Amino acid sequence: MNILGIETSCDECAASIVEDGKKILSNIVTTQIPFHAEYNGVVPEIASRMHTQWISLVVKEALDKASMHPSDIDAVAASAHPGLLGSLLVGLNFAKAFAWARDIPFLAVDHMLAHLYAPMLEFDDIDYPFLGLLVSGGHTIICRADNFDDIRVLGTTMDDAAGEAFDKVSKHYGFGYPGGYIIDELSQKGNPNAFNFPLPSLHKGNHKYDVSYSGLKTAAINQLEKFRVAETYDMHDIAASFQKTAVEILLRSLFRAVEDTGLKTIVAGGGVAANSYLRAAMSERKDLRVIFPSLSLCGDNAAMIAGLAYCYLARGESSSLRATASARVKSFKRQGR
Ligand code: KG4
Ligand code: ZN
Repeated sequence: MNILGIETSCDECAASIVEDGKKILSNIVTTQIPFHAEYNGVVPEIASRMHTQWISLVVKEALDKASMHPSDIDAVAASAHPGLLGSLLVGLNFAKAFAWARDIPFLAVDHMLAHLYAPMLEFDDIDYPFLGLLVSGGHTIICRADNFDDIRVLGTTMDDAAGEAFDKVSKHYGFGYPGGYIIDELSQKGNPNAFNFPLPSLHKGNHKYDVSYSGLKTAAINQLEKFRVAETYDMHDIAASFQKTAVEILLRSLFRAVEDTGLKTIVAGGGVAANSYLRAAMSERKDLRVIFPSLSLCGDNAAMIAGLAYCYLARGESSSLRATASARVKSFKRQGR
């Protein structure tokens, strides 16, 4: 079964064709980063307008790369939530029109569930249950996955998402956008122990697995002035020290969840899962099986959308053409609340 996946939740306009939820026949990801960079962040109005201009071309390229005609597509899926509403609607409505015109099933899927599905495109031996670490520009979620659509949130962020913290600090330091990738690059030549940034003190009760980035962000921004006065600082060291602390914040909560649940498999996903320090630090835990998608499947892509859609179709499920977009995370349950 060939499924066309469409992803337009933020600033990537992507289309992919995946066979039977596993075999990627094409995976086209176009990014709008150069158009948002001058604003140091994604401008929703620009994003939705560009998706409107690009979506047909991107879908055509996905079909061409797979040497397929629209009549070879058996079902079409798109991200429905969470994301920027105007952007989501472009991909969702395109997918609905495609499905309606060809009289094939349509699936509105959750973008975060799809990030968690991404490694399944590359690994055949990931068994439920496992712990998920979903870290992107908009979300930070530590969760327990009992099935592809049975996800319980254990912890989340009290303020900024992990990627958002990277992006905001990068913006303030004048490093550029998107901050995560740039800080990671700069850190390669920096000393992660050069500066001490604070860790939040969230370790009890309902917040045991939550994270917070506001303290780190404020400290990192305030320190810049002191560093400037000293005039001897090295931007690589600042980047590396910030990155190390940002990752430690995630790992403290994640490893607490490992101890408490006894789960030994962790699946990471989302743009921040591309972070080299995070990947290295998690891989040091030899007692755990840590699974990262390859870099091209960490960030937003449509192969994960098509792959996840197959799981629903295999269960005989599809969506109504009335399904609509939402800016919020919808498909996750919250543990014990
Ligand atoms: O999953 P994604 O592509 O889009 C969202 O759904 O948000 O994630 C984008 C986020 C951005 O905040 C970006 O700065 C961050 O992922 N990111 C990274 C790295 N590459 C991208 N953060 C840390 N290290 C990286 N190497
Ligand atoms: Zn994403």
